[in-house]
Amino acid sequence: METVMVKIAPSILSADFARLGEEVRAIEKAGADYVHIDVMDGHFVPNITIGPAVVKSLRKHSGLIFDTHLMIAPVDPYIPAFVEAGSDIVTIHAEATPHLDRSLQLIKSLGAKAGVSLNPHTPESVIRYVLDKLDLILVMSVNPGFGGQSFIPAALEKIANIKTMIGTRAIEIEVDGGIGPDIAKAVTAAGADVLVAGSAVFRTADYAANIAALK
Ligand code: DX5
Ligand code: ZN
Repeated sequence: METVMVKIAPSILSADFARLGEEVRAIEKAGADYVHIDVMDGHFVPNITIGPAVVKSLRKHSGLIFDTHLMIAPVDPYIPAFVEAGSDIVTIHAEATPHLDRSLQLIKSLGAKAGVSLNPHTPESVIRYVLDKLDLILVMSVNPGFGGQSFIPAALEKIANIKTMIGTRAIEIEVDGGIGPDIAKAVTAAGADVLVAGSAVFRTADYAANIAALK
């Protein structure tokens, strides 16, 4: 039996953008494992958030792993800036690049960990032949673009299938969207290693209690 605790990656999309440095310090103190940074371009997804300059400014506020989720297309031209800004993991969408293998090689060549995210409708088969270049697989359990949406249950089967597909490889399975304490149990049972949570962490001022409730 594995006893490794699930990791929690609060999404700062639900934080107060006027006090982001403080918010990142607060989640670190509250027991967060990663800082999940949602980057949106108003093109790949219907919302616009933050760019590399903000990531760079946040870097001074935390020693936690910066888990940068790029919801942008094209993505390759911006990968170097997000690595230079201090991202430890750079996750790109399989749907956002015509040459997924090449984009992953770029991330790895810059010294960051590489992740691929799959939209709710995207089958796990798209990553079968790039598994050797992956450190993380991000299963979207909502359509990307906004916090506070409802969990799409089909993600559970996808997580289980990915778990089988990766076998003994050192790849983390992360799940993103609509995760609260109840769904946290189901996604963890299906095989998730890292849970992204925006509204569930930032909904009240007691971030430590909110993170503990997800573990
Ligand atoms: C959605 C983002 C998520 C989002 C999660 O496009 O990738 O990280 O902030 O928010 P909740 O946990 O509120 O669904
Ligand atoms: Zn995200």
